Amino acid sequence: MEKFLETINYLKSKITSKPKIAIILGSGLGSLSEEIKEKIVIPYKDIPNFPISTVEGHKGELIFGNLNGVSVVAMNGRFHYYEGYDLKETTYPIRIFKLLGVETVILTNAAGGINLNFEKGDLMIIEDHLSFFAESVLRGPNLAEFGERFIDMSNVYTKEYIEILKPIMKKITGKALTGVYAYMKGPTYETKAEIKALRTLGADAVGMSTVPEAIVARHSNLKCIGITCITNMAAGIKDEILTHEDVKKTASKVEENFKKVIKELVTKI
Ligand code: HPA
Repeated sequence: MEKFLETINYLKSKITSKPKIAIILGSGLGSLSEEIKEKIVIPYKDIPNFPISTVEGHKGELIFGNLNGVSVVAMNGRFHYYEGYDLKETTYPIRIFKLLGVETVILTNAAGGINLNFEKGDLMIIEDHLSFFAESVLRGPNLAEFGERFIDMSNVYTKEYIEILKPIMKKITGKALTGVYAYMKGPTYETKAEIKALRTLGADAVGMSTVPEAIVARHSNLKCIGITCITNMAAGIKDEILTHEDVKKTASKVEENFKKVIKELVTKI
């Protein structure tokens, strides 16, 4: 707790109002931060006990301010297990958001489409997730200050908010896709056989983030929304080689719609 408090005290000394919503910006989706007004930008490297993002395309700053009239904090750059952090480090910001008084986290990401009805550039609302192949972020002594040891996982992605999001997506993108996000540890993209297996298991999209954060959000009783940008069809579906460059390129093409969706969503939750 001492570590958390050191971080919180530093952030509280910098900010002027309590954020209601935290938004984690996935690969190539960082430009939403430009829409935030009355900004206070804090580089991760200045925040005591905060990890530092190492991924290209992720900036590494917390942005406090006002998005469409709502007090928010955005993370431009998140922490991934594949970078070498342990899962507790990757989810440290979620704990901090809880202690700052945030009510809802919006988790966004880039992912590969597994559902054959999806197309590159689609946005998918995460309804549920699969996380068979990674250790639990809650392994180890329970942080009782945040939540209980054994956690119900039947409502990780807040159902009432999914229903609010669907018509917003439909209006802005013409579609309201929902699906199951499968978490893989990365940093390799998946093999064709893994994608076939994940489809059989019920996955619609696959990526390397979000799930540990969603579990920590659930543990501390934060409301949670997940939005995936399908930046590519997953391995073996199309005859193409997956690259991080292409992932970022597709995400940036979708960014305008993505920003509109988030800006409207924050006013309705
Ligand atoms: N697999 C895993 N992570 C990803 C992908 C993918 O195909 N695309 C973007 N992130």
